[in-house]
Amino acid sequence: MKITAVILAAGQGTRMNSDLPKVLHPVCGVPMIAHSLAAVKTASSETPVVIIGHGAEAVREFLGERARCVVQDPQLGTGHAVQQAESTLRGKTDLVLVVYADMPLLRPETIKGLVETQKANKGPLTMLTVSAADPRGFGRVVRGTGGSVQAIVEEAAATEEQLSIHELNVGAYCFSADWLWDALHKIKVSPRTPSPVLEPGLSRGNRDYAAGTGTTTQKGEYYLTDTVALAVQAGLTVQALVSDDPVETIGINTRVHLAEAEVAMRQRINRAHMLAGVTIVDPASTYIEPGIKIGRDTVIWPNTYLRGKTVIGEGCVIGPNTIAEDTTVGDCCEILAAVMEGAVVEDNVGIGPFARLRKGAHLCKGVHVGNFGEIKDSTLGSGTKMGHFSYIGNATIGNNVNIGAGTVTCNYDGVHKNPTEIGEDVFIGSDTMLVAPVKIGARSRTGAGAVVTKDVEPDTLVVGVPARPIKKLNEAKND
Ligand code: UD1
Ligand code: MG
Repeated sequence: MKITAVILAAGQGTRMNSDLPKVLHPVCGVPMIAHSLAAVKTASSETPVVIIGHGAEAVREFLGERARCVVQDPQLGTGHAVQQAESTLRGKTDLVLVVYADMPLLRPETIKGLVETQKANKGPLTMLTVSAADPRGFGRVVRGTGGSVQAIVEEAAATEEQLSIHELNVGAYCFSADWLWDALHKIKVSPRTPSPVLEPGLSRGNRDYAAGTGTTTQKGEYYLTDTVALAVQAGLTVQALVSDDPVETIGINTRVHLAEAEVAMRQRINRAHMLAGVTIVDPASTYIEPGIKIGRDTVIWPNTYLRGKTVIGEGCVIGPNTIAEDTTVGDCCEILAAVMEGAVVEDNVGIGPFARLRKGAHLCKGVHVGNFGEIKDSTLGSGTKMGHFSYIGNATIGNNVNIGAGTVTCNYDGVHKNPTEIGEDVFIGSDTMLVAPVKIGARSRTGAGAVVTKDVEPDTLVVGVPARPIKKLNEAKND
């Protein structure tokens, strides 16, 4: 059975008060809409259709190949939005799964449950509802005497009695496709009047009121929710899957909601890592983006940020005060107060405090980088030590090298970045300037304060400014 998701993302998001389209605001580092894409993926293997409108180009660019975008212009409500998918999907799918892009906490399992319920339903649609004490401006689910779903009433149109209903429409539905396309043509326009009980900016409701002046307000809207009453009138069954987790249904209309969603998602992510064997000392101040892998028995101290495609091995101690973005860390590393972007760190490496690894930094097994070191586009071989303030850029450094305090690879001549090569077992004296391009042969040494402008042969001691060879080190041994 073919199942295709339609994600509604055309709304204006007025109350975000932002130049950035609402659905591109990040939650735990990932734009809201990407969470919706991830949530529908388990239930549907078809490329989803995303309805875009406000900020269409930016949203389209972000989505790229991950979605088929259809522009809704003007934006005449959720029913009208789904209708935009008809020409793309009519005859091409059996079920249509509709979700709103401003609900990033919806879980894949819940969406899957929704689809499974609809597969077993003889009627044309299944909707997700939640029972919650705070109605947050959501549509109310009206049930008949026998308990069957009769209609969804939007808060703005609800009677006093209906307003007291606590079963709410979450905004996720699974429809039989053929029925849906016809039903959408039968929806009548509803006046878009802000609800008297909603206080814009404070309510948890999802409506993006255009301050009473927007075009949609004047024209009215086609509500997707009216499909429920249409089915009931035709004598067809509407199923409701009742969620028991109000957190999942946090919708975002303001930056206050955005922060609430951020907290809820952070807790969810951190909890999963803890249950998988990671110690998170203070989950409230540990910021881990979705999809990050962390090995067992790793301990994460507060104020640590793990972002992008970061992978952390087993038995590490990370933080406090560490940022890792798109960085791979092996097993048994200790990383304190470091910033790492696009770096690779092998097993048993110690870093920090106050170290910075930039793109292309590669620390092999057993490397030690102490305070105030910066490394960029460079490999440090196994067992190499760089204990104190140094800059290493565009360098290839062998195994067991000692990099003295204050060493600088002078890699930039104002036009080009030039390479430095250091062989194994080299000892770089404190405050050495390595003026690239330059090579230091294996087992050589530089004296403190040396400014190395020419290649150094293996087994050679160089000193001074500019550095000159003064001794062959093997010969020195034979003296
Ligand atoms: C909707 C539901 C309400 C439900 C609530 C849950 C309707 C009529 N009401 O109300 O029952 O309780 O969600 O969150 O559906 N959008 C478009 N094009 C439009 C209008 C909206 O793409 O023309 C998109 C928005 O970008 C948003 C989603 O649809 O992602 C929902 O729209 P919104 O205006 O937030 O509807 P709610 O008032 O939250
Ligand atoms: Mg909403």
